[in-house]
Amino acid sequence: MNKNIVVIEGDGIGPEVTRQSIKVLNAIAEQFGHEFDYRYCLMGADAIDKTGNPLPDETIEAALNSDAILFGAIGHPKYDNDPTAKVRPEQGLLKLRKSLQLFANIRPINSYPSLHHLSPLKTKNIEDVDFIIYRELTGGIYFGKKETNAEGTIAFDDCIYSKEEIERIAHLAFKQAQQRRKKLTLVDKANVLETSRLWRKIVKEIATQYADVTLDFLFVDNAAMQIILNPKQFDVVLTENMFGDIISDEASVISGSLGLLPSASIGSGSALFEPIHGSYPQAAGKDIANPIGSILSAAMLLDHFGLHKEAQLIRTAVMWTLDNGFVTKDIDPVNFYFTSTIGELISDFVSNKIPVDVNKENIELRKSTII
Ligand code: IPM
Ligand code: MN
Repeated sequence: MNKNIVVIEGDGIGPEVTRQSIKVLNAIAEQFGHEFDYRYCLMGADAIDKTGNPLPDETIEAALNSDAILFGAIGHPKYDNDPTAKVRPEQGLLKLRKSLQLFANIRPINSYPSLHHLSPLKTKNIEDVDFIIYRELTGGIYFGKKETNAEGTIAFDDCIYSKEEIERIAHLAFKQAQQRRKKLTLVDKANVLETSRLWRKIVKEIATQYADVTLDFLFVDNAAMQIILNPKQFDVVLTENMFGDIISDEASVISGSLGLLPSASIGSGSALFEPIHGSYPQAAGKDIANPIGSILSAAMLLDHFGLHKEAQLIRTAVMWTLDNGFVTKDIDPVNFYFTSTIGELISDFVSNKIPVDVNKENIELRKSTII
């Protein structure tokens, strides 16, 4: 299979984690006889520094013409702490989501037995957690009219949703639920918000087309608590843009590290794959960030191409590293391996280059390939 992939390394740890995914994708290509062509494009603070624009037109053009986009991370503290900044890195990502109509952001949440001890939650509550969040990504408060008055004393952000915006993601979420444990939970704030009442009405109507799926509803404040108290109850969670942003970071504590979680953003054309973590500027360039969120995003990219065997091999390789204690600093602050080492181990596993009797002591820090 030949595919054109646009790679946007982005800011902070984005470049170093994305490079590990490229190593792994190259190993997959070689192993299975595929050809992946990469085109590198700019977005975020990196793009502002180089071009003055967080999303240059060439990037939009290349993304529109690609088969998929692999993205690293976005954001820089110099903008976070400056409320007066006119141009912000995040505008690049939001504009790209809108330009490609990436209306559904899909975030799987799992727990890994070898990492249960890392979660602040009790092991008995997180064992076998397996749910998936469908977050609406191109509407709501993120994209409504926003303004500050001339005196700088009053500001507003409009939250708007249309029937069509709710329907298209709801269908995807119901279809996903049909493939899984057939339960869909709509998270909203229908006791207060008009937009949430519209979500409820439309999702209820659509539910009649998916009679095998059980639909239930949770207010977002309650959902935030339930995700911590009893995450096993969830199968597919459907929600609007901002609630999805918040509860997916919250849900990441179940797996033990935000660095492990991948995501896919899909629409009608090319889809985008990115780890859910941010740019983690404190770690940038230190080779300590966890590349697994990005590598599992690459696995979701392969699934999107219909390359399920290939995607599964990556997931098996990731499990192998975690089970054997080959982990980054976020997971084990004492005995940790570097970002690049984990990337090499996973790509070596994919290429069948890991001996059965792999000796941990021989995998020196930064020298993973010398086994
Ligand atoms: C995410 C991020 C983005 C969001 C930011 C960087 C704009 O937090 O993808 O979850 O809020 O959507
Ligand atoms: Mn977020």
